[in-house]
Amino acid sequence: MVSYKDLGLVNTREMFKKAVAGGYAIPAFNFNNMEQLQAIIQAAAETKSPVILQVSSGARKYANQTLLRYMAEGAVEYAKELGWENPQICLHLDHGNSFELCKSCVDMGFSSVMIDASSLPYEENIALTKQVVEYAHKYDVTVEAELGVLAGVEDEVSAAESHYTKPEEVIDFATRTGCDSLAISIGTSHGAYKFTPEQCTRDPKTGKLIPPPLAFDVLHEIEKKLPGFPIVLHGSSSVPQEYVDIINEYGGKLPDAVGIPEEQLREASKSAVCKINIDSDSRLAMTAAVRKVFHDKPGEFDPRKYLGPARDEMKKLYMHKIINVLGSDGKAE
Ligand code: G3H
Ligand code: 13P
Ligand code: ZN
Repeated sequence: MVSYKDLGLVNTREMFKKAVAGGYAIPAFNFNNMEQLQAIIQAAAETKSPVILQVSSGARKYANQTLLRYMAEGAVEYAKELGWENPQICLHLDHGNSFELCKSCVDMGFSSVMIDASSLPYEENIALTKQVVEYAHKYDVTVEAELGVLAGVEDEVSAAESHYTKPEEVIDFATRTGCDSLAISIGTSHGAYKFTPEQCTRDPKTGKLIPPPLAFDVLHEIEKKLPGFPIVLHGSSSVPQEYVDIINEYGGKLPDAVGIPEEQLREASKSAVCKINIDSDSRLAMTAAVRKVFHDKPGEFDPRKYLGPARDEMKKLYMHKIINVLGSDGKAE
């Protein structure tokens, strides 16, 4: 049993309290490799932003859970080397799907876990979430739960309003589970294809898709039911069109990739939404940079020569999100 406290990590409790009160959101960035982690920590250290490092099931398969945990421990020391005296870094399990997985993360030094039982019937979601909360809280590890199903083209069932979180359920759910934060569904979704072209309108000038707006009415109703309670948004990449264009220009094929407009995330950050998950945008930044190097310098075969520019591009993206979208810069001096 390793406590995250001994690794210099923090849980989300204080972070979220301050974020809700201060009208900003904490960035939750997924990481799978060293370059992504370096870029995240450099961006957080330079802007003095609290940050959540997320480990998904794909990341656990790709990079190994133990190795990622040690990398996060190293990230705390790296942040200090960069001059961030008091780094506020949380190591979080993204979309945990069982008690055993959540327990294994708590036991190896994660400071926060998500139990995503949102696909289960309501009472089963409550029972599993409660079981994880009871275990995690013994070690002061915070727990994110999810209610409602993220809409989008990646769902097996197509997007519909009935997938949104039901505001009338949130008080009962939060009270009975004891969860520390709640991921809700208000129209975001995972990946680079968040909406079908049929769900969007098209900008007549550029031909680019304009997605339907998020359901702010549902968010505000939830906020009224649970005043001050930390709300989480998954699937919040904005799919920057400049990256999509670079990827397509240099041999990629991402037709009609579309995300959540940043103005809407900025607005959400000012509400009880205090954690915003971003993964796909970092993948796009990395892919755009790597494709460009491969195109411009076909003789290059030193991975540092293309992963280096990819890391720089991701850092730029993370800093932009922190400063211009979430407003978390300067909140962890
Ligand atoms: O929640 C989804 C994240 O973007 C991670 O996805 O399991 O492919 O790493 P992944
Ligand atoms: P995106 O695919 O929109 O980046 O969402 C990531 C996420 O929600 C991770 O849990
Ligand atoms: Zn997610």
